[in-house]
Amino acid sequence: MNTLVESRQSVVELMQVSKAYGEVEVLGNVTLSLGAGEVVALVGDNGAGKSTLVKIVSGYLMPTSGRLVVGGREVRFASPREARRCGIETVYQDLAIIGQLSLWRNFFLGQEMRRKSLGLRVLDRSAMRSICLERLRDFGLESVHSPDQLAASLSGGERQTLAIARAVHFESRLLILDEPVASLSVREVRRVHDTIDQARTRGLGILYIDHNMNHVVPVADRIAVLERGRLKTVVHRGEVSAADLADLLA
Ligand SMILES: Nc1ncnc2c1ncn2[C@@H]1O[C@H](COP(=O)(O)OP(=O)(O)OP(=O)(O)O)[C@@H](O)[C@H]1O
Ligand SMILES: [Mg+2]
Repeated sequence: MNTLVESRQSVVELMQVSKAYGEVEVLGNVTLSLGAGEVVALVGDNGAGKSTLVKIVSGYLMPTSGRLVVGGREVRFASPREARRCGIETVYQDLAIIGQLSLWRNFFLGQEMRRKSLGLRVLDRSAMRSICLERLRDFGLESVHSPDQLAASLSGGERQTLAIARAVHFESRLLILDEPVASLSVREVRRVHDTIDQARTRGLGILYIDHNMNHVVPVADRIAVLERGRLKTVVHRGEVSAADLADLLA
């Protein structure tokens, strides 16, 4: 296997990644790569190891063994901050959007733009406000009138869209979505899936976790099936129906 060539095309590669708690192995020798502009869905029963895998890639957990390669380089994340610095952004179901802050504040949280004023570095509010609005419009949030609106005014799907637009703006290379649509209406799910399509078009790699096979099948380029911590199979788009997939998991 020519790993060098493979690494150049992939945004993230897991090589023989395992995680054990004492004697109990919850993830065993998982090898999986994800390319730029590709959506890989990760499915499996409760306790299969999906969140464990996500936490390893997003820097919350260290693997017990195995290697993680991001953008062609082997990495060892000691914290989620380090993973973010490598362009890995994770969006959870109960994500870090703060309702009582404005949209633009949420958009730039922790990554604020600054300008010089009388020799001081002050927040560049007007730049952040206009960029935020522009980006949200790019992602089809037509209902947003002002970047000063509170994030609490957004629906669940719109919040997910805000988080994804933010990841795209800050040039993340890998976007991890752990059950992003679990509590959304059909219409909102469609919005999030449209947003994922847009992010894919912009070249992000996307790791998508969802329990609902009807959600997974239309968005995923490949579907990785985990079973008790082991990668059981990886299927390509069009190879299985949602019903087949549900059977496979049963
Ligand atoms: N800190 C821990 N100590 C021991 N076992 C753990 C720990 N964290 C997770 N596990 C175990 O690891 C296994 C995988 O858990 P994980 O959360 O990755 O599953 P999952 O596929 O995300 O499940 P779900 O679909 O329910 O979210 C489970 O059996 C869980 O009990
Ligand atoms: Mg989980």
